[in-house]
Amino acid sequence: MTPTPELSGAEVCVIIPAAGSGTRLGEPVPKAFVDVGGRTILERCVDNIPASLGATVVVVVPADLVERASALLTGVRVVAGGAHRSDSVRAGIAAAGHAGILLVHDAARPLTPARVFTDVVAAIRAGHQAVVPAVPVVDTLKQVEPGPAGLERVTRTVDREELRAVQTPQGFTRDALLRAHADDAGIATDDAGLVETCGIDVHLVPGDPLAMKITTPWDLRIVRDMVGGR
Ligand code: C5P
Repeated sequence: MTPTPELSGAEVCVIIPAAGSGTRLGEPVPKAFVDVGGRTILERCVDNIPASLGATVVVVVPADLVERASALLTGVRVVAGGAHRSDSVRAGIAAAGHAGILLVHDAARPLTPARVFTDVVAAIRAGHQAVVPAVPVVDTLKQVEPGPAGLERVTRTVDREELRAVQTPQGFTRDALLRAHADDAGIATDDAGLVETCGIDVHLVPGDPLAMKITTPWDLRIVRDMVGGR
Protein backbone atom coordinates (compact mmCIF):
# COMPACT_ATOMS: atom_id res chain seq x y z
CA MET A 1 0.00 0.00 0.00
CA THR A 2 1.42 3.37 -1.01
CA PRO A 3 1.30 5.99 1.76
CA THR A 4 -0.95 8.91 0.88
CA PRO A 5 1.39 11.93 0.97
CA GLU A 6 -1.28 14.41 2.08
CA LEU A 7 -2.18 12.15 5.02
CA SER A 8 1.31 11.60 6.38
CA GLY A 9 1.13 14.91 8.23
CA ALA A 10 -2.65 15.23 8.42
CA GLU A 11 -4.26 16.35 11.65
CA VAL A 12 -6.28 13.82 13.62
CA CYS A 13 -9.64 14.49 15.25
CA VAL A 14 -11.25 11.96 17.59
CA ILE A 15 -15.06 12.22 17.72
CA ILE A 16 -16.65 10.59 20.76
CA PRO A 17 -20.41 10.09 20.37
CA ALA A 18 -21.65 9.99 23.96
CA ALA A 19 -25.22 11.18 23.49
CA GLY A 20 -26.96 7.85 24.05
CA SER A 21 -29.18 7.24 27.05
CA GLY A 22 -27.67 3.82 27.80
CA THR A 23 -30.92 2.59 29.35
CA ARG A 24 -29.83 -1.09 29.18
CA LEU A 25 -27.36 -0.24 31.93
CA GLY A 26 -30.14 0.57 34.40
CA GLU A 27 -28.21 3.54 35.85
CA PRO A 28 -29.90 6.88 36.73
CA VAL A 29 -27.60 8.90 34.42
CA PRO A 30 -26.70 8.41 30.72
CA LYS A 31 -23.98 5.79 30.26
CA ALA A 32 -21.11 8.19 29.53
CA PHE A 33 -21.72 9.95 32.87
CA VAL A 34 -21.74 6.80 35.00
CA ASP A 35 -18.97 6.66 37.60
CA VAL A 36 -16.26 4.01 37.32
CA GLY A 37 -13.78 4.12 40.19
CA GLY A 38 -14.24 7.84 40.90
CA ARG A 39 -14.28 9.12 37.30
CA THR A 40 -16.94 9.08 34.61
CA ILE A 41 -16.77 6.66 31.71
CA LEU A 42 -16.49 9.69 29.42
CA GLU A 43 -13.47 11.16 31.24
CA ARG A 44 -11.74 7.79 31.04
CA CYS A 45 -12.42 7.58 27.29
CA VAL A 46 -10.90 11.01 26.66
CA ASP A 47 -7.87 10.28 28.85
CA ASN A 48 -7.09 7.09 26.90
CA ILE A 49 -6.44 9.00 23.66
CA PRO A 50 -2.64 9.01 23.34
CA ALA A 51 -1.14 12.52 23.43
CA SER A 52 1.33 11.42 20.72
CA LEU A 53 -1.47 11.68 18.15
CA GLY A 54 -1.77 15.43 18.79
CA ALA A 55 -5.49 14.94 18.16
CA THR A 56 -8.27 17.41 18.69
CA VAL A 57 -11.19 15.81 20.51
CA VAL A 58 -14.90 16.43 19.94
CA VAL A 59 -17.30 14.97 22.50
CA VAL A 60 -20.99 14.70 21.59
CA VAL A 61 -23.42 14.56 24.53
CA PRO A 62 -27.16 14.99 25.17
CA ALA A 63 -28.12 18.68 24.78
CA ASP A 64 -28.95 19.05 28.50
CA LEU A 65 -25.50 17.74 29.49
CA VAL A 66 -23.30 19.99 27.33
CA GLU A 67 -22.56 22.26 30.31
CA ARG A 68 -21.82 19.34 32.64
CA ALA A 69 -19.48 17.69 30.12
CA SER A 70 -17.69 20.99 29.43
CA ALA A 71 -17.04 21.34 33.17
CA LEU A 72 -15.72 17.76 33.43
CA LEU A 73 -13.40 17.83 30.44
CA THR A 74 -10.60 20.21 29.55
CA GLY A 75 -9.18 20.81 26.09
CA VAL A 76 -12.05 19.21 24.18
CA ARG A 77 -14.95 20.60 22.13
CA VAL A 78 -18.34 19.59 23.49
CA VAL A 79 -21.41 19.65 21.23
CA ALA A 80 -25.01 18.41 21.46
CA GLY A 81 -25.94 15.10 19.81
CA GLY A 82 -29.07 13.84 18.09
CA ALA A 83 -31.73 11.15 18.33
CA HIS A 84 -29.68 8.42 16.65
CA ARG A 85 -26.00 7.55 16.93
CA SER A 86 -25.37 8.62 13.35
CA ASP A 87 -26.99 12.04 14.04
CA SER A 88 -24.54 12.44 16.93
CA VAL A 89 -21.59 11.43 14.75
CA ARG A 90 -22.66 13.99 12.14
CA ALA A 91 -22.79 16.68 14.84
CA GLY A 92 -19.25 15.65 15.76
CA ILE A 93 -18.05 15.80 12.15
CA ALA A 94 -19.47 19.32 11.87
CA ALA A 95 -17.36 20.37 14.87
CA ALA A 96 -14.21 18.54 13.72
CA GLY A 97 -12.69 21.42 11.75
CA HIS A 98 -10.51 20.39 8.82
CA ALA A 99 -8.69 17.37 10.27
CA GLY A 100 -7.78 14.96 7.45
CA ILE A 101 -8.08 11.84 9.64
CA LEU A 102 -11.25 11.31 11.66
CA LEU A 103 -11.60 8.67 14.37
CA VAL A 104 -15.01 7.79 15.79
CA HIS A 105 -14.78 6.23 19.24
CA ASP A 106 -17.71 5.01 21.34
CA ALA A 107 -17.85 6.55 24.79
CA ALA A 108 -18.88 3.08 25.96
CA ARG A 109 -15.29 1.73 25.70
CA PRO A 110 -13.39 3.43 28.55
CA LEU A 111 -10.47 0.99 28.78
CA THR A 112 -9.34 1.07 25.13
CA PRO A 113 -5.51 0.88 25.08
CA ALA A 114 -3.44 3.61 23.38
CA ARG A 115 -1.99 1.00 21.00
CA VAL A 116 -5.37 0.56 19.30
CA PHE A 117 -5.59 4.31 18.53
CA THR A 118 -2.05 4.47 17.18
CA ASP A 119 -2.48 1.34 15.01
CA VAL A 120 -5.66 2.74 13.44
CA VAL A 121 -4.03 6.09 12.66
CA ALA A 122 -0.86 4.43 11.31
CA ALA A 123 -2.92 2.30 8.92
CA ILE A 124 -4.79 5.37 7.63
CA ARG A 125 -1.51 7.22 7.14
CA ALA A 126 -0.23 4.14 5.27
CA GLY A 127 -2.93 4.69 2.66
CA HIS A 128 -6.13 2.92 3.79
CA GLN A 129 -9.38 4.89 3.73
CA ALA A 130 -11.15 3.07 6.54
CA VAL A 131 -9.58 1.08 9.39
CA VAL A 132 -11.33 -0.70 12.22
CA PRO A 133 -10.01 -2.66 15.23
CA ALA A 134 -11.40 -6.17 15.42
CA VAL A 135 -11.11 -9.37 17.47
CA PRO A 136 -11.89 -12.99 16.54
CA VAL A 137 -15.28 -14.38 17.47
CA VAL A 138 -14.84 -17.08 20.12
CA ASP A 139 -18.39 -18.39 20.52
CA THR A 140 -20.07 -20.60 17.94
CA LEU A 141 -22.73 -18.54 16.19
CA LYS A 142 -26.17 -19.74 15.11
CA GLN A 143 -28.61 -18.11 12.74
CA VAL A 144 -32.15 -18.44 14.09
CA GLU A 145 -35.82 -17.84 13.29
CA PRO A 146 -38.88 -17.53 15.56
CA GLY A 147 -40.09 -20.95 16.68
CA PRO A 148 -43.12 -22.47 18.45
CA ALA A 149 -43.82 -21.74 22.14
CA GLY A 150 -41.40 -18.81 22.10
CA LEU A 151 -38.31 -20.99 21.54
CA GLU A 152 -36.18 -19.84 18.61
CA ARG A 153 -35.20 -22.48 16.04
CA VAL A 154 -31.67 -22.71 14.62
CA THR A 155 -31.58 -22.45 10.83
CA ARG A 156 -27.80 -22.78 10.40
CA THR A 157 -24.41 -22.55 12.06
CA VAL A 158 -22.32 -19.63 10.85
CA ASP A 159 -18.61 -20.20 10.11
CA ARG A 160 -16.96 -18.09 12.82
CA GLU A 161 -13.55 -18.29 11.13
CA GLU A 162 -14.87 -15.76 8.61
CA LEU A 163 -16.24 -13.40 11.27
CA ARG A 164 -14.74 -10.63 13.41
CA ALA A 165 -16.23 -8.52 16.20
CA VAL A 166 -15.38 -4.89 15.53
CA GLN A 167 -14.59 -2.26 18.12
CA THR A 168 -13.72 1.44 18.12
CA PRO A 169 -11.92 3.78 17.49
CA GLN A 170 -12.82 3.43 13.82
CA GLY A 171 -10.60 5.57 11.60
CA PHE A 172 -11.38 7.18 8.26
CA THR A 173 -10.01 9.66 5.83
CA ARG A 174 -12.12 12.77 6.04
CA ASP A 175 -13.48 12.15 2.52
CA ALA A 176 -14.55 8.57 3.33
CA LEU A 177 -16.44 9.53 6.49
CA LEU A 178 -18.12 12.53 4.84
CA ARG A 179 -19.25 10.34 1.91
CA ALA A 180 -20.56 7.68 4.29
CA HIS A 181 -22.62 10.16 6.26
CA ALA A 182 -23.86 11.98 3.16
CA ASP A 183 -25.43 8.68 2.01
CA ASP A 184 -26.55 7.54 5.47
CA ALA A 185 -29.67 5.43 5.22
CA GLY A 186 -29.63 5.08 9.01
CA ILE A 187 -29.27 1.29 9.12
CA ALA A 188 -25.66 0.70 10.12
CA THR A 189 -24.75 0.30 13.79
CA ASP A 190 -21.23 1.60 13.17
CA ASP A 191 -19.54 4.08 10.86
CA ALA A 192 -17.57 1.41 9.00
CA GLY A 193 -20.92 -0.10 7.98
CA LEU A 194 -21.90 3.17 6.32
CA VAL A 195 -18.50 3.41 4.62
CA GLU A 196 -18.91 -0.14 3.26
CA THR A 197 -22.23 0.77 1.64
CA CYS A 198 -20.37 3.50 -0.30
CA GLY A 199 -18.17 0.78 -1.82
CA ILE A 200 -15.08 1.82 0.17
CA ASP A 201 -12.88 -1.02 1.47
CA VAL A 202 -12.64 -1.32 5.25
CA HIS A 203 -9.45 -2.87 6.67
CA LEU A 204 -8.80 -4.35 10.11
CA VAL A 205 -6.11 -3.90 12.75
CA PRO A 206 -5.98 -6.05 15.89
CA GLY A 207 -8.47 -4.97 18.53
CA ASP A 208 -8.07 -5.63 22.24
CA PRO A 209 -10.23 -7.27 24.90
CA LEU A 210 -9.83 -4.06 26.94
CA ALA A 211 -11.68 -2.16 24.20
CA MET A 212 -14.85 -3.98 25.32
CA LYS A 213 -18.08 -2.04 25.17
CA ILE A 214 -20.15 -1.38 28.26
CA THR A 215 -23.74 -2.25 27.40
CA THR A 216 -25.18 -4.27 30.30
CA PRO A 217 -24.87 -4.07 34.11
CA TRP A 218 -22.59 -7.11 33.85
CA ASP A 219 -20.18 -5.23 31.53
CA LEU A 220 -20.16 -2.31 33.97
CA ARG A 221 -19.31 -4.66 36.82
CA ILE A 222 -16.38 -6.14 34.87
CA VAL A 223 -14.99 -2.68 34.04
CA ARG A 224 -15.40 -1.48 37.66
CA ASP A 225 -13.57 -4.58 38.88
CA MET A 226 -10.76 -4.03 36.39
CA VAL A 227 -10.33 -0.37 37.32
CA GLY A 228 -10.39 -1.28 41.01
CA GLY A 229 -7.73 -3.91 40.45
CA ARG A 230 -5.35 -1.60 38.59
O1 C5P B 1 -26.18 2.41 22.42
P1 C5P B 1 -24.78 2.07 22.03
O2 C5P B 1 -23.94 1.60 23.17
O3 C5P B 1 -24.68 1.20 20.81
O4 C5P B 1 -24.12 3.46 21.58
C1 C5P B 1 -22.81 3.52 21.08
C2 C5P B 1 -22.29 4.92 21.29
O5 C5P B 1 -23.07 5.86 20.55
C3 C5P B 1 -22.34 5.36 22.76
O6 C5P B 1 -21.12 6.01 23.08
C4 C5P B 1 -23.54 6.28 22.79
O7 C5P B 1 -23.47 7.30 23.79
C5 C5P B 1 -23.49 6.92 21.42
N1 C5P B 1 -24.80 7.46 20.97
C6 C5P B 1 -24.89 8.81 20.64
N2 C5P B 1 -26.11 9.35 20.26
C7 C5P B 1 -27.21 8.60 20.23
C8 C5P B 1 -27.12 7.21 20.56
C9 C5P B 1 -25.90 6.66 20.92
O8 C5P B 1 -23.88 9.54 20.69
N3 C5P B 1 -28.37 9.16 19.88
